[in-house]
Amino acid sequence: MTNLKEYGIVMWDEEKIASFRRTLLSWYDQEKRDLPWRRTKNPYKIWISEIMLQQTQVQTVIPYYEKFLDCFPTVADLAAADEEKLLKAWEGLGYYSRVRNMQKAAQQIVSDFQGEFPASYEKIVGLKGIGPYTAGAIASIAFDLPEPAVDGNVMRVLARLFEVDYDIGEAKNRKIFQALMEVLIDPNRPGDFNQALMDLGSDIESAKNPRPEESPVRFFSAAYLHGTMAKYPIKRPKKKPRPVQVQAFIIRNENGDYLLEKNKDSRLLEGFWSFPLIETSFIAQQLNLLEDPADNLLETLSQKSAFEENYQLKPLWSDKTFALIKHTFSHQKWQIELVEGLLPAADLSENETLRWVSAAHFASYPFAAPQQKMLAEYMKD
Ligand code: ADE
Repeated sequence: MTNLKEYGIVMWDEEKIASFRRTLLSWYDQEKRDLPWRRTKNPYKIWISEIMLQQTQVQTVIPYYEKFLDCFPTVADLAAADEEKLLKAWEGLGYYSRVRNMQKAAQQIVSDFQGEFPASYEKIVGLKGIGPYTAGAIASIAFDLPEPAVDGNVMRVLARLFEVDYDIGEAKNRKIFQALMEVLIDPNRPGDFNQALMDLGSDIESAKNPRPEESPVRFFSAAYLHGTMAKYPIKRPKKKPRPVQVQAFIIRNENGDYLLEKNKDSRLLEGFWSFPLIETSFIAQQLNLLEDPADNLLETLSQKSAFEENYQLKPLWSDKTFALIKHTFSHQKWQIELVEGLLPAADLSENETLRWVSAAHFASYPFAAPQQKMLAEYMKD
């Protein structure tokens, strides 16, 4: 058990804790957002909402949540889903390992728990892709267990309440906030208590535009009372995503079909279909040309012959130019240059990962955000 004193934190007495719970929960009862996953106690549905909400805003999540449950209404449906249908249901949400892990966890639930969602924190946290936050959220919301659910929003609120002088971005400091919550959480309404802190942290106590005067718990907050709100939470800035130059080849045949490739790279976007892509920075490095990426030699080499080498295909290249496409992933910032070409349909021997696809059939192929953006640019006029 983490000793809060070691971290310079003085816990409140019982009376103050009780008063804090009452204040927070009565605010929640009046102000809570009416969200679809708050109308259910079904652990499967709550799990889906929590996974979607990890990296995505509430307003974006709502339609995905409903569509996902229409496609996969039960754990068994998710466990048995085919990959393409699964990625399609998640298309646009990003961070696709989330949905792959969910399917593995659904398979675990089917094989180890007869398809019944397990009802203890320990069992829930043993499922693939479920960490302490998600396990705490499901345990408290679906099963009324007094388990904390500590995410970034909750840590920010707690850091201000107690003036916690430890970086909320460092994994090893999570235990401090977990220990605080173990004392604070209301054992009678743990799910509401956790969600009240989430709501507070994502709006009134947000990172970018906090409105401390409106906080229902401002008079409990050491930072508010001491005028140190600007200092908390302690968080060092994130590393910037690495820039990556990519070229995308929009190759069409005499029927107007597009050449699409299925991504095999397990690190990013595995299983998604897109125009053939080649990362150009590695060619640039070899040629020592990074100083001047606009160099003609680099352009010629990377665009035309790299494609021809890689795919053993010789399209007729067009000289049409397109706007650069930009897309930022958590660790990479892509800048994509589009190149257009024509290729006789018969030149390609189609296989599992390389195919001609007509625009009418795009709807059955999972496309990630960069592909959606490339298509939008290509179709613009
Ligand atoms: N963010 C993550 N889980 C949430 C929930 N249950 N309610 C509101 N925001 C959340």
